[in-house]
Amino acid sequence: MSDVLLNLGRNAAARSVLSTIGVTVPPQLRRASGPWVERPLEARNATVGGGPLVQALSRQVLDAGANLVDDGPVHALVFDASSLASAADLRALYDFFHPRLSGLGRNGRVVVLGRPPSSQAGVEASAAVSALDGFTRSVAKEIGRKGATANLIRVEPGAEDRIEPALRFLLSDRSVYVDGQPLDVTALCSGEPSPFTPSPLAGRTALVTGAARGIGAATARRLAEEGAHVHLLDRPDDALSALAAEIGGTPLPLDVTDPKAPARIAEALSGGVHAVVHNAGITHDKTLGRMPPESWDLLLDINFGAIMRIHEALAAGPLQDGGRVVLLSSIAGLAGNVGQTNYAASKAAVAGLARRLAVDLAPRGIGVSAVAPGFIETRMTAAIPFVTREAARRLANLSQGGQPQDVADVLTFLCSPGALGLSGTVLRVCGGSLVGA
Ligand code: NAI
Repeated sequence: MSDVLLNLGRNAAARSVLSTIGVTVPPQLRRASGPWVERPLEARNATVGGGPLVQALSRQVLDAGANLVDDGPVHALVFDASSLASAADLRALYDFFHPRLSGLGRNGRVVVLGRPPSSQAGVEASAAVSALDGFTRSVAKEIGRKGATANLIRVEPGAEDRIEPALRFLLSDRSVYVDGQPLDVTALCSGEPSPFTPSPLAGRTALVTGAARGIGAATARRLAEEGAHVHLLDRPDDALSALAAEIGGTPLPLDVTDPKAPARIAEALSGGVHAVVHNAGITHDKTLGRMPPESWDLLLDINFGAIMRIHEALAAGPLQDGGRVVLLSSIAGLAGNVGQTNYAASKAAVAGLARRLAVDLAPRGIGVSAVAPGFIETRMTAAIPFVTREAARRLANLSQGGQPQDVADVLTFLCSPGALGLSGTVLRVCGGSLVGA
């Protein structure tokens, strides 16, 4: 469903008229296409400041292709706040960002590095690192009109060597719709941090459920671009076979609720699977008093029960050590929503499942995470009534819905070896949506 305001904003004359009458014109977001490149920040300026991680972060930013500058116009501002431990220390945030934020370019990136509050021994230090969350979310709201984003990386002590892929991802044009979020980098999942390599999924096999359209189709495309052989599962559909042929993948025409589905999937993947994206999902919206029991039962089975059954069949055999499992939650599951008790219950369950499986599968080096999209422009959201749809778009920092590609880019990153430190994360991809912030 096209976004009229966003489309009008592409035209300079229309943009000027809209601004004159006081209409906020959504920014045009710069998106990357094609496979990952070694230097995604080539020829862009970045300023890195703050505490003890500055040297390591500067090296990582340089390796990603950026020029380091002290001031002036920049694409990225990176600040290491990991040593701030008191109210007085927090002044360093003001000192770094106050003179520089106006120089941040359109589609720019702010990344703040901090520590999880639980890692701080002192009471004030624990509160001080919590301050970074509110600070980063607020910066995100202030710069959203430029299409720029701000996010926080909370690094567990001992997991510093796992920061780089997350930093590189957040600074790149692949993270356009991740905004105002904390990302926890931990040592939970066993394994060695891997340096950036082109085609990180070359020689690997992936499964994407619900791959015929929307977020699933975009994800299958991206995983194939990064070198994976993709098995595309969906209900039998022409779109499924066409996409599988286009990306050189293998179609798996199945309904996830079919009792035979887990065994058939495990059989199709008997050669091993390294990345699994549990994406198939539906909505059946009705307030609880009006909801027929079949809407509850079918939805919970597709969005949660089938995932459990398929996961168990894969974990018992084809799922390879060192692999990745990513589940599709939703901000509705984190925040709740009128008319979505069934959907929100299923999506909260999925978030809980990711957190629990991350612990259970950590010794095998299998990273498990969930992505909670906000309003993404797909068939699912095209069915939402106009007024609600418009509100959902405009109540994000970026004043627009995300594209399936935006979620696919995050899912692909979480399927990559570099996402080792992000196991257990439930990452919102919501453009800084007001809902459940
Ligand atoms: P979509 O409706 O465009 O695509 C979903 C795909 O799943 C379809 O191809 C459908 O055929 C397939 N599917 C549904 N039931 C199935 C079954 N029983 N067996 C096999 N395949 C089945 O949906 P969209 O928007 O791409 O959503 C993908 C996932 O992202 C879902 O889990 C959804 O809940 C989640 N999500 C989407 C958001 C959005 O704004 N679009 C927001 C938050 C979460």
